[in-house]
Amino acid sequence: MLASKRILLIIGGGIAAYKSLDLIRRLRERGASVTPVLTRAAEEFVTPLSVSALAGEKAYRDLFDLTDEAEMGHIQLSRSADLIVVAPATADLMGKMAAGLANDLASTLLMATDTPVLCAPAMNVRMWNHPATRRNYRQLTEDGIRFAGPNEGDMACGEYGPGRMSEPLEIVAAIEAALAGGPLAGKRILVTSGPTHEPIDPVRYIANRSSGAQGTAIARALVSLGAEVVFVTGPAEVAPPEGVELVHVRTAQQMSDAVDAALPVDAGVFAAAVADWRVDGASDRKLKKSRDGMPVLQFAENPDILKRVSHMEKGRPALVVGFAAETDDVIAHATVKRTRKGCDWIVANDVSPGTGIMGGSENAVVLISDNGAEEWPRMGKDAVARRLAERIAAALTG
Ligand code: CTP
Repeated sequence: MLASKRILLIIGGGIAAYKSLDLIRRLRERGASVTPVLTRAAEEFVTPLSVSALAGEKAYRDLFDLTDEAEMGHIQLSRSADLIVVAPATADLMGKMAAGLANDLASTLLMATDTPVLCAPAMNVRMWNHPATRRNYRQLTEDGIRFAGPNEGDMACGEYGPGRMSEPLEIVAAIEAALAGGPLAGKRILVTSGPTHEPIDPVRYIANRSSGAQGTAIARALVSLGAEVVFVTGPAEVAPPEGVELVHVRTAQQMSDAVDAALPVDAGVFAAAVADWRVDGASDRKLKKSRDGMPVLQFAENPDILKRVSHMEKGRPALVVGFAAETDDVIAHATVKRTRKGCDWIVANDVSPGTGIMGGSENAVVLISDNGAEEWPRMGKDAVARRLAERIAAALTG
């Protein structure tokens, strides 16, 4: 899929730059050619020699290098690529890109091109969560920049959270998705998936039986049609899809925040089984049966993410798809739910125990839209996902 593709790889100055060496190898194994560009700060983490040896090409470093300019000007350098990949995309590089600055070779290349750009951010969790980075991320998303990651995990600085650069193979998958073309190329789609866990105390939680299988299959099908997918998932049983911007959450509130952070998108598919209630005043110490007696749990209502996004006055996705898990009168209940939630489509399914759908591999859905209720035959969750992705492509591009 990457054979004969030309990637311009801009390596920013962060500790994650070491992973970019492996990324170069992985890309070349798949037949892509990689032209590396290092920022000044990147050279503090990896050397031009190792980068250039792995790429089998010269490593570009300086905007004002007379030899480089004579051989291949910086404008040409950026335009001859099929895709520009910025990995690691540091907070500084993202800031420059969002502001349109061009004061070194990397930022100038990014300004001088209309080649698609994919960023793999890497930074400390507080930098990632800083309002300036949130703003820059939104701006870059609006400008059509695609993202791979960041992942959540332990950081080189000793903290934990989102900000770790995606692993090389995850970035490769995102690069393949970005170059794949397809009817959803250039469309950014949000998918929520999996259950949420609502804590009772630090060790106990309330959950539901969603495996995340249907949401994962939908995300995968959208990626295969060329979409850039932001995948916001609760603690699911199935492994997340490749080639998406992955956001792990636990609670409904965190999912709601992650959805806000992912906007704007062209479409939102809300496949998650979000807990309607959380435990009000969850204990921050483990409840003890001897000391505390029988616990009495009070509940508070969680934000209804689908409803909120469907009613957004500014920034509502062009297409909002909700799901309805019902155990009786599926069509009637789901039709009412579509109006109540304000979404464009509802994918309704019967999750009564006899069907084996919740947690199973098959699904029988009814698609409810302005055109009424359309019953799909029972089929694998992958097949439902492909059909839904095709319908989304038709709606967004038709
Ligand atoms: N949903 C959401 N946020 C919530 C609850 C649900 O975004 N707090 C979304 C789900 O992802 C799904 C749709 O709303 O797309 C339907 O969820 P469901 O739980 O079936 O609907 P409810 O509003 O809870 O209705 P009821 O409990 O009456 O079935």
